[in-house]
Amino acid sequence: AMEDQSGVWRFREMLPIVKSDASIVSLREGNTPLYPLRRAARSTGVERLFAKHQGMNPTGSFKDTGMTTALSVASEMGFSWVACASTGNTSAAMAAYAARAGMRSLVLIPEGKIAWGKLAQSLDYGALTLQVKTDFDGCFRVLSEVVERAPVYLLNSVNPYRLEGQKTPAMEIAEQMEWEVPDHVIVPGGNLANSSALGKGFLEMKRLGLTTRVPKISVVQAEGANPLYCSMVKTGGKTLEPVAANTRASAIRIGNPASWKKAVRVIQETGGWVEQASEAEIALAKAEIGAEGIGCEPASAVTLAGLKKLVRQGRIAREESVVLVLTGHTLKDSEYTIQYHRGKLLGEDEAAGMEAEIEATRRNT
Ligand code: F0G
Repeated sequence: AMEDQSGVWRFREMLPIVKSDASIVSLREGNTPLYPLRRAARSTGVERLFAKHQGMNPTGSFKDTGMTTALSVASEMGFSWVACASTGNTSAAMAAYAARAGMRSLVLIPEGKIAWGKLAQSLDYGALTLQVKTDFDGCFRVLSEVVERAPVYLLNSVNPYRLEGQKTPAMEIAEQMEWEVPDHVIVPGGNLANSSALGKGFLEMKRLGLTTRVPKISVVQAEGANPLYCSMVKTGGKTLEPVAANTRASAIRIGNPASWKKAVRVIQETGGWVEQASEAEIALAKAEIGAEGIGCEPASAVTLAGLKKLVRQGRIAREESVVLVLTGHTLKDSEYTIQYHRGKLLGEDEAAGMEAEIEATRRNT
């Protein structure tokens, strides 16, 4: 059976969510690589630096680990329609797993604000795909009304079964590090489900005695979409006011994250931090990860940008071990990469002060 090859369902004893294995909908997700990042280790000084590459999942993002669990539950409950609002990856994953389950799916995406690769996936996997003239938050509001009126199962990350699947990379990380969990795990922050789910995974493992401690989980947002950062970081005794969400890391262009409270709890309970990265810092970090022969989408690169800041602030020591969670594959947003290497991505003001570093990663054109 497909689920026997799944990296998520290997942990089914910790996923008490389906009654029968016959309900499991799997595309052989999970079992993603943990890559040493040798160049970034040299440039940051953190010797034990790794990337857990969740972009190596069947639809190219970490969302697959949560969609296999949520679609299995939806299928067992007998729904025929599932739906989500998305910045592109949730919808790609949902569309694929719904198709495998023989269900129809409805996707609401902000028009013109998601990467082409992701839009193409939703269409290819057969989802009814609606582009709405609003942002992610607007799409989510519309969908919340739809699911109250129609027998459609909501698959945004407010769905608890998604978090169950999304906690399993924590177990894989522990396993890949021979049950010595890293000192730090750094994740991008958008709707804040990933940080919440990984926190749950690490905390459950410790409670079960599988591990002796929990890594510090830190969340990094784009400066242009930083509501969590603004709510948790005080500058000059004041909390900042978030601006209307806008970043070219379109996956994390979110103004009102659903799992806000859960993420705050995970950061506080594990002793992690919240950071933010500018457009130039994200682009540079993405190029650096690319030049490792690994690559990721822009939203994933905030992790390396954030690591640099946390090291500079003395919050991460060079002798500590760090895992960056790369959430999406580099092919998800090729347009971004091409624009960067053509020198067309960043404005002069955005790149100010970073020209030399940026130029050094652009010599391949
Ligand atoms: N990285 C990528 C590539 C994403 O697609 C997302 C979220 C995140 C990071 C942030 O994760 O929301 O759990 O904090 N994408 C969602 C979507 C919102 O609709 O695909 P989060």
